[in-house]
Amino acid sequence: MTIKNICCIGAGYVGGPTMTVIAQKCPNIKVTVVDINEARINAWNNSDLNKLPVFEPGLDSIVEEARDRNLFFSTNVDAAIDEADMIFISVNTPTKTYGKGKGMAADLKYIELCARQIAKVAKTDKIVVEKSTLPVRTASAIKNILDHTGNGVKFQILSNPEFLAEGTAVQDLLKPDRVLIGGDTSAEGEQAIQALVDIYANWVPKDHILTTNVWSSELSKLTANAFLAQRVSSINAMSVICEKTGADVSEVSKAIGMDSRIGPKFLKASVGFGGSCFQKDILNLVYIAKSYGLNEVADYWEQVILMNDYQKNRFSDNIVSTLYNTVSGKKIAFLGWAFKKDTNDTRESAAIKVADNLLNERAHVEVYDPKVTEEQIYTDIDYLNSRNYEENRKLLKVNSDPYECCKSAHAIAVLTEWDEFKTYDWQKIYNNMQKPAFVFDGRGVLDTKVLEDIGFVCYSIGKGHV
Ligand code: UDX
Ligand code: UDX
Repeated sequence: MTIKNICCIGAGYVGGPTMTVIAQKCPNIKVTVVDINEARINAWNNSDLNKLPVFEPGLDSIVEEARDRNLFFSTNVDAAIDEADMIFISVNTPTKTYGKGKGMAADLKYIELCARQIAKVAKTDKIVVEKSTLPVRTASAIKNILDHTGNGVKFQILSNPEFLAEGTAVQDLLKPDRVLIGGDTSAEGEQAIQALVDIYANWVPKDHILTTNVWSSELSKLTANAFLAQRVSSINAMSVICEKTGADVSEVSKAIGMDSRIGPKFLKASVGFGGSCFQKDILNLVYIAKSYGLNEVADYWEQVILMNDYQKNRFSDNIVSTLYNTVSGKKIAFLGWAFKKDTNDTRESAAIKVADNLLNERAHVEVYDPKVTEEQIYTDIDYLNSRNYEENRKLLKVNSDPYECCKSAHAIAVLTEWDEFKTYDWQKIYNNMQKPAFVFDGRGVLDTKVLEDIGFVCYSIGKGHV
């Protein structure tokens, strides 16, 4: 079976970049990305490539190459479904905020809505691909809906989880460690798997394309994220011990990372991991474990999250105690708001929780981030419902100039590892601050020795002072 038309429902951080790369690499396939959010679609269609809704290094030039050639962004969901041989579902699956499984289970309402819409519109056989991260066995729910509400057409469901990380999405898509495709073991299932393999084979070496059954594929995605997050929580657990003992966590990371059984990646201590996936996927795993009565397994994975919460709280606690146990009325400048560098995404960013804690202490927080908008920062802080709208605007400010942001501050907190922070004129920043001038580096990105020579009092996560 040769695919001529692809539709992707969901033009977010995953759907947008993934479809852009497929379109670039498969000029003979028409790729239409649809979304119910009209503003988002308009932004994808914006002729000013700086205004794309997702910032990813290298994405703009690929959009420019493929857009309106074989890559289209539209709000006409029905038309795109009707036309497609293959439909990717890439809508968000947030943690449930209500009812059974609240705070833990994935909310699958958007997935279900997509399935119902596909069932309603489809007049020809289709392959439906789960791109969103989903709990194990979601494919069977989707299949049920499609088979029972459809117009008698045949559906094959594949799981093809995305392993791209934000900030490196384009490189991850162009040169993936592996592409994972799960499908039914029947003859039709295998045909569907092959159709998707053929698409990726246009640029991914065959031995990097892995095929499995659907359940293995769904569970592998949760497992991969849980293992990655666990490494960060493990090294963060060590960062506290380093601080108490005089060890330096970056030296410890380097020493253990050179052991080929451990490897160097995901061993950077930080103020805590964020992003749309880690917390959600682990909570999902915890929920699945609990629902099978596997409480020990649930507790084991839940500890990864608890460690992460501890790391964020301990960072803000340390700021308060270092500033003589009160930050009330003091200006604290935040460098960075995104959950990591090279992305404008702020979902679950550690900065949000740290800011919230400091605002509760009545600190004046002023934020600079090179890519995150003021509107987004207020949305994130309002969402917590810790204070009312006016209070948040009174206590929290956003500044588009890092030097202005740090002016007259008592302390600077580094929450994202943006490279540009290393290039600042730190002497100039120091001169304009309250003294003693404190820096709390939550990402271990600044050279504390240089800063200390200038006169700053420095705290860097995981670096012991004995
Ligand atoms: C992705 C994955 O899909 C998710 O499973 C993973 O866990 C996190 O990353 P992402 O692309 O980052 O999601 O989400 P988002 O940027 O919110 O994009 C989802 C898009 O789907 C939004 O633009 C939203 O408007 C759209 N959507 C949602 C629809 O078009 N229809 C719906 O019914 C629901
Ligand atoms: C992650 C997975 O890496 C990706 O494969 C999956 O598809 C989606 O979830 P992403 O959330 O974009 O990607 O970012 P990632 O690079 O994994 O970082 C997650 C968080 O961990 C960030 O807040 C990052 O700063 C933090 N982190 C990462 C550390 O604190 N230390 C590290 O060593 C690595």
